[in-house]
Amino acid sequence: MSYHHISVMPNEVLAYLDPKPGRLYVDCTVGGTGHSGRIVREILPDGLLIGIDRDSDALGNAETVLKPFLTNIRLFHDNFIRLPAILEKLQIESVDGILLDLGLSFNQIENSGRGFSFGKDEFLDMRMDARSGITAYDIVNDMDEKKLSDIFFRYGEERFSRRIAERIVLSRKKNTIRTSRELATIVAGAIPYAHSKKQKIHPATRVFMALRIAVNNELENLETFLGNVAELLKPGGRLLVISFHSLEDRIVKHWIRNLESPCVCPPQFPECVCGKKPVVRAVTRKAVLPDQREIDLNPMARSARLRVAEKLASVS
Ligand SMILES: C[S@@+](CC[C@H](N)C(=O)[O-])C[C@H]1O[C@@H](n2cnc3c(N)ncnc32)[C@H](O)[C@@H]1O
Repeated sequence: MSYHHISVMPNEVLAYLDPKPGRLYVDCTVGGTGHSGRIVREILPDGLLIGIDRDSDALGNAETVLKPFLTNIRLFHDNFIRLPAILEKLQIESVDGILLDLGLSFNQIENSGRGFSFGKDEFLDMRMDARSGITAYDIVNDMDEKKLSDIFFRYGEERFSRRIAERIVLSRKKNTIRTSRELATIVAGAIPYAHSKKQKIHPATRVFMALRIAVNNELENLETFLGNVAELLKPGGRLLVISFHSLEDRIVKHWIRNLESPCVCPPQFPECVCGKKPVVRAVTRKAVLPDQREIDLNPMARSARLRVAEKLASVS
């Protein structure tokens, strides 16, 4: 399988991460190695890049592509929520920079055969890590109608979530829904024609995104990860997160805001008594977006948002 190495906002990532020789970095979402490949070249001869991905195909590709940098890279097939344990294993206490480029890779959508794309006729798996967990097939065929509708509404912001869930339940009573194309056809049939005619995106786009987020626990993983990532950064170390979904971006924005001003005293208190001190500063006030040139070259970049926080020097 040929792998694509196009990454989102590569120049912005390098500028904000500012990798330097001899330092320690983590790429939590190695994917097609676009970012990792650029970071590792900046840290030679004696820096270390720790690369993580929960997709074994991505990791396998990374092992081949990054082979020339073997002494400067350690790769882990794992969920990034296990970063604290990975660092402990390497006897590393803290690092100079951490990158998260969330969501799916081009390779997962186009070549994985796991049913991520409604344009293909593949088994509805949708697991990034094919070793464990429930599949989209399990959700679509077993989950009760209300819960299905909630998933489409919450993760996909799909306004026809109830109609779609109803149509899925009707349909699966006749035959189980096995493939991405079967599901896409059922979803398209549930959306009023007048509405879908006006839309620029395929009628099943939101449902597929919602299912993928649910199958892979994407929002929960992000929250868990952010829960202790500040402790893993050195003073001055930076966290960069690229998200593709407004719910993810909101989680990152709130995390930065909370650690920037963690005081929980009621606003009417004349001074702080809770004693909670800022842990990070926001390097990007607003999310950084890809420029139009990048979007023209790589339409997948169009919904990307990058946020950057820096650990303050005064906290341990
Ligand atoms: C958008 S791609 C990354 C692309 C990569 N930055 C590049 O330049 O090629 C996202 C990758 O993150 C991985 N991923 C998503 N959630 C993960 C998690 N919780 N733990 C580890 N990897 C994850 C996916 O398997 C996918 O390969």
